[in-house]
Amino acid sequence: MSGASSPSAHQKTEAIKFAYWVPNVSGGLVISKVEQRTSWDIDYNRKLAQIAEASGFEYALTQIRFTAGYGAEYQHESVSFSHALLAATEKLNVIAAILPGPWHPAVVAKQVASISWYTGGRLAVNIVSGWFRGEFQAIGEHWLDHDERYRRSEEFIRVLRGVWSQDDFSFAGDFYRFRAYTLKPKPVSPPEIFQGGSSRAARDMAARVSDWYFTNGNTIEGIQKQVDDIRANSAQSGHRVKIGVNAFAIVRDTAEEARAALDDILTHADPDAVRAFHHEVQNAGAASPEREGNWAKSSFEDLVQYNDGFKTNLIGSPEEVARRILDLKAVGVDLVLLGFLHFQEEIEFFGKRVIPLVRALEAEQARLAA
Ligand SMILES: Cc1cc2nc3c(=O)[nH]c(=O)nc-3n(C[C@H](O)[C@H](O)[C@H](O)COP(=O)(O)O)c2cc1C
Repeated sequence: MSGASSPSAHQKTEAIKFAYWVPNVSGGLVISKVEQRTSWDIDYNRKLAQIAEASGFEYALTQIRFTAGYGAEYQHESVSFSHALLAATEKLNVIAAILPGPWHPAVVAKQVASISWYTGGRLAVNIVSGWFRGEFQAIGEHWLDHDERYRRSEEFIRVLRGVWSQDDFSFAGDFYRFRAYTLKPKPVSPPEIFQGGSSRAARDMAARVSDWYFTNGNTIEGIQKQVDDIRANSAQSGHRVKIGVNAFAIVRDTAEEARAALDDILTHADPDAVRAFHHEVQNAGAASPEREGNWAKSSFEDLVQYNDGFKTNLIGSPEEVARRILDLKAVGVDLVLLGFLHFQEEIEFFGKRVIPLVRALEAEQARLAA
């Protein structure tokens, strides 16, 4: 392990955090006709949020889609959905996905500040930069080139921070302009700012302005490379970025059962939808100048899960999965973002069978270190 990715003393003592993908769009998180006992409706999701907070999950991440795509035929809006989940829970933090372009930062700053007051400051944002050109065309939004999308997102984040913390805020950017603007009320506490994406532009933006970097599923080596890169760049500016990694968890009593469940998902994959998704995501990571980033090297099987979640390999028995989570922590991961086939039942199972093992392994490591 290189020095840049060695966990800091702070991180060694800090418990790894768990988040789940909110299924606020229909069709679940795999492009497969396999049975999914998951629903995108609000009643299912309120109950899911309550189960998750009782099971040891600290965060829930909503998704934003303005149109259907590859299975997500119906999509609830992320800020209003986040608010509904916050109103149904007591300690869960909910992260609302925000897409610059359709949203203006003044609107987002105001909405989030108000919801912060209604919910004890438990709303965070995930600034996403866009991968779905067809969606932008459908709603008459101009589609920018890859790195221009990130330049806009960075201005968006700088504006949010400024408006949330300063009176008479002024900003003269290429995308946004503010003149002596004062937001009242400001949020009760500074909302955390997450971002999604893995390209060079995404990593540089994280190193400069974001609190959290969310990345697609990957191997330990692939994640370590990103962590090293971001930590090296952010060290120069003294900015600390936390790392969240996506994984599609399939945890069963035995490794064989978990593998069989994965095979079932892949056997029932919808090939036309997976290929169409593959075609569309070429607008993301592969369209970046360095041709890295999300989905740039994903196989057909990887793409059956929207965010390469099989690659992280949290597939196996509770003991195996707990150990792999500790391996992620060892390369600098602060949070694991999880998707499931049958959300309510599997989050409960994960809370009972995996999180206690993770906590026991963390305690054991702390004892050894001491
Ligand atoms: C955890 C995570 C969540 C994301 N959520 C959304 C979303 O809700 N809506 C959306 O349009 N894009 C979403 N994205 C896509 C990213 O914003 C970005 O467009 C994509 O990852 C490609 O980035 P890259 O080219 O920098 O790799 C998400 C990405 C990640 C990693």
